[in-house]
Amino acid sequence: MPDDTTAVDDIVAALTLEEKLGLVHGAVDPEETATGYVPGVERLGVPEFRLVDGPLGVRVPGRSSTAFPASISLAATFDADLARRQGVALGREAKAHGQDAVLGPGLNIIRTPHCGRNFEYFSEDPLLSGAFAAAVVEGIQAEDVVATPKHYVANNQETGRTTVSAAVSERTLRELYLPGFRAAVDAGAGSVMTSYNRVDGTHMSDHHHLVTEVLKDEWGFDGYVVSDWFGTESTVGAANAGLDLEMPGISQEELRTAFGIEDSLDFEDHDGMPDATETGLFAEPLGEAVENGDVHEGRLDDMVARLLRQMKRIGLFDDEEREGELDTPSHRRLAESIARRGSVLLTNDGALPLDEDADVAVLGSSATSAMLGGGGSSEMDPFERIPTADGIRERASGTVTVERGIAKIEDFSFFEDSNGSDHGTVESDIEAATAAAEEADVALVVVRDTVSEAIDRADLGLPGDQDELVEAVAAVNDRTVVVVQSSGPVELPWRDDVAAILESWYPGQADGDAIAAILYGDADPGGRLPVTFAPQSDYPTADERAFPGVDDVVHYDEGAFVGYRHFDAERVEPTFPFGHGLSYADYEYRDAELTDDGTVSVTVENVADRDGREVVQAYVSPPEVDGVSRPVRELGGFTAIEIPAGETVIVRVSLDDAAFRRYDEDEGWLVDEGEYGIEIGRSTRDIRLDVAAIR
Ligand code: BGC
Repeated sequence: MPDDTTAVDDIVAALTLEEKLGLVHGAVDPEETATGYVPGVERLGVPEFRLVDGPLGVRVPGRSSTAFPASISLAATFDADLARRQGVALGREAKAHGQDAVLGPGLNIIRTPHCGRNFEYFSEDPLLSGAFAAAVVEGIQAEDVVATPKHYVANNQETGRTTVSAAVSERTLRELYLPGFRAAVDAGAGSVMTSYNRVDGTHMSDHHHLVTEVLKDEWGFDGYVVSDWFGTESTVGAANAGLDLEMPGISQEELRTAFGIEDSLDFEDHDGMPDATETGLFAEPLGEAVENGDVHEGRLDDMVARLLRQMKRIGLFDDEEREGELDTPSHRRLAESIARRGSVLLTNDGALPLDEDADVAVLGSSATSAMLGGGGSSEMDPFERIPTADGIRERASGTVTVERGIAKIEDFSFFEDSNGSDHGTVESDIEAATAAAEEADVALVVVRDTVSEAIDRADLGLPGDQDELVEAVAAVNDRTVVVVQSSGPVELPWRDDVAAILESWYPGQADGDAIAAILYGDADPGGRLPVTFAPQSDYPTADERAFPGVDDVVHYDEGAFVGYRHFDAERVEPTFPFGHGLSYADYEYRDAELTDDGTVSVTVENVADRDGREVVQAYVSPPEVDGVSRPVRELGGFTAIEIPAGETVIVRVSLDDAAFRRYDEDEGWLVDEGEYGIEIGRSTRDIRLDVAAIR
């Protein structure tokens, strides 16, 4: 057993070719727990290595872990400290399950609102995405577990995800799609996962420019690059492009047999599923390529060294017991507090917070289950799940009646029995729901979408009879409150007919408790939108060239004008703008000033008689430069802060340099000289103050 000081290089030098190959592709985990497994080399004391899915929690088949709110909900908190704490909890739970690397965070930019994995990602904004990715990475790695930011890069849709090519300019990549990964790498990420798709014609596993030149050489990334599962396109191409670890390295058939898993859906029908038979490309074929000189042995040594360095960094060579923790009271509380703080109050005519004594009718298909997430590799099976209706029952003093009113909205699940919904089916009975609503003081309708990895949403409407249900209920009860549990933007055609709308995303296991706390005003809704809500025809991806693409090419013609950057430039009024979210309190903003080049300060007074949680946002608006198109404003910084009733605080927001610069394809990053506006406000469309910054 080598001691701590054994140099990785010495181990590499002692390995045979066969042993090296065993360290660069996956194998069957004898313990049947890991999503990806690398056997060690006993002879040289190299330990085994286990990689496990995230990012909503640690997914080990047949075992439970804390189901945290979806990543988009985490980002809606605008509080990166919560992300760090979630990362720590993920790290501890991974260790408790004997795992060494977490396959997360997911941080692809939410480019198309239809993408089936938006709930696993943070935002349409690169600064917000990067801040959250970095915080999750720091948290996971503080626990000596490797974090794996994914999926690198331009994996912004599920339709044709294994073949589709993103036609995206270098400037757009640099300004929008790469910064989040850069932030994760700067935070010390030990690994990065490549995506399935192609970028400008080349599969990401084989993309020398993006994997070696940008990620490794330019950013100094010294961890290992792992393929997505069955996402290694070639042997020589991938090895020479800089891919270091092929996963899972064995076929789906072998995996299924080893784990005794039956997939509950026939995914071969979906063009988003990879070919799970072509595998083992970094096994014998790589050995042959090294022997015949197509891949230099130094490259193979580098692949191995990159993994070994991470194993060493997290202490796997130390002879110590790795201690983790599972389902602790603090993890439960954290899951609940993120769900609460990530909930976004979209509208409120005063019906919220609810009166303690109100009689409440809880309606809708999603009311009787905790909404854990979408289908796919992030599916969770927690120790406890608190359905929305149970949380309300627990908290209410008045009478609570529960009536689903519509047929069950089905989940897409990759695995049998894994997602959190109950399995009873009911026929739609909207009359029963309206009858209950008529009797009650308040009608609470819980609605949801259904999404999955490998599939994009066909439209942004709510599935099934849900719109009909809300309309019918709102017609009989003018205190109708709608809780929306969605993966991202949805269309809410009845939004002006209901008293209040709370977007709770996928709140995870604490669903009912978190929502009750917000609805009854125990906590201020702290969430703000990390994505723009608009009718689907208003997004730049409404054109089929842009989504889902034509002839397997998706054209990023909109450039950097994604999300609010598009709506601002086109002067299109969104339904709910980026950054939007109401508080139960009210705030006055005054006295904004630049305290130095990189900080803006503003006085914020809570003028309400209740405590509030405010998110102060600073946007940078660049000077005009001939021939250069730039967004009207870009998020430069944000600060989430509790402000007690009647109190005044000075809030400081640090401005990221990235918000001032632009990428020029000839000159690289540059900051144009001139006057920048620093806009301070509550959303992209609620700017309260503005100060000038000269650069
Ligand atoms: C997903 C990854 C995941 C991997 C392992 C893939 O289908 O794209 O996000 O980590 O499977 O489950």
